[in-house]
Amino acid sequence: MKKELPKNWANVPYKTWKYEKQTEMKHKVFGYYLPLWLSILGRYHKNLNFVDGFGGIGSYHTDEDEKSGKCLSRNFGSPIISLLEIFKLESLKKISKANILIIEKEKENVANLKIIVDFLKIKITGVIDYREGNFDSEINKFLDTIDASDSKLAPTFFLIDPFGIAEIKMATIKRIMSKKNTEILLNFMYNCLQRWVAHPDEKINKIYDEYFGSDIWRNCKGKKLYEKEAELVKIFRDNCKNFCKFVYPFRLRFPHKDQTYYYLFHLSQHYKGCSLMKDSFAKFNDGKSEYRGENYKSSLFESMEAKEKKEEFVKKICIFYSGKKIKWVDILNNFIDETDLLESEIKKLLKPLEKDKRITVQAGDGRMRRGGFIESDYINFVKQS
Ligand SMILES: C[S@@+](CC[C@H](N)C(=O)[O-])C[C@H]1O[C@@H](n2cnc3c(N)ncnc32)[C@H](O)[C@@H]1O
Repeated sequence: MKKELPKNWANVPYKTWKYEKQTEMKHKVFGYYLPLWLSILGRYHKNLNFVDGFGGIGSYHTDEDEKSGKCLSRNFGSPIISLLEIFKLESLKKISKANILIIEKEKENVANLKIIVDFLKIKITGVIDYREGNFDSEINKFLDTIDASDSKLAPTFFLIDPFGIAEIKMATIKRIMSKKNTEILLNFMYNCLQRWVAHPDEKINKIYDEYFGSDIWRNCKGKKLYEKEAELVKIFRDNCKNFCKFVYPFRLRFPHKDQTYYYLFHLSQHYKGCSLMKDSFAKFNDGKSEYRGENYKSSLFESMEAKEKKEEFVKKICIFYSGKKIKWVDILNNFIDETDLLESEIKKLLKPLEKDKRITVQAGDGRMRRGGFIESDYINFVKQS
């Protein structure tokens, strides 16, 4: 992603960057998921945090704005989206308090964010902490303070949304995820990252080692484009899986070419987080957990392929659990980040197995079952011959 030139306007006091379609999609999904996360965690915790690791400029303009010469659209960046959502949830009494920490390297962007917050008159109960600096050092300072004070970190959602890969270290991601109730949405800048994979410069290679958390990625140096993409995503995911239970890479293509722009990696220690993030993607992407660009049209071949994939999935589950009794929630724990199927789709696929006598279901909470599965239900899989 290239660095944007900020645009000035006469009708608003802040600057903007040009809005790209995949950025709009990122904001839609993030803006839908964050309030879900905040309200769920807000039921059990008085204090919550949101950390925006790469704050950006805070606002975007469209082609229409450019044509009219006025910034009339209200397309805000992640720090402002989150502040507006926090403000809304506080007013609705869905959360008590959420603090926000915004890290941004460029002084002008920090200043612009403050101007937007003042302009929109955003007031939240918690602290808005702006830090002009580098993500990795600021985050580690933040975590050092928590560790030194012996206090527990309140549930914290981290958005890590850089232009490239520098300054992101797997060790820091691991440190964040070692805290209770943390989640990360991380932009794995594939289009930028793949360009330098074959570079011989050891300095660059070392940056990649820190990013991936190992040097296995170096095996991809000679690989073909398609193979390379799948491998690099797998290596990054596998390394995250060493310390995080649920890791799902959401692919975002370029709006107008059939090529990956980036992946948003979602890291959560709870299956529900993964499931809800998939739902959030699906909500804006025709039921799919990826952004396929603006002109994408699904073909008949694709729907046949999807049907086959679903049948394969059912077969795999029946073999995996053959002759076993397992809680419904554990099926989700095992499979939610291993498939692109949504939780509702998995449910829909397994339901007919009961009628076909390939499974029997016992209510785990002593209730009278009326069909469907809930977390505590036990599923008995008939032994496969
Ligand atoms: C992709 S933009 C963030 C966009 C923002 N999340 C949004 O939704 O509008 C990346 C931002 O990170 C800033 N940046 C670059 N390197 C940084 C670093 N090491 N630490 C913190 N911020 C950095 C850039 O100045 C830029 O504003």
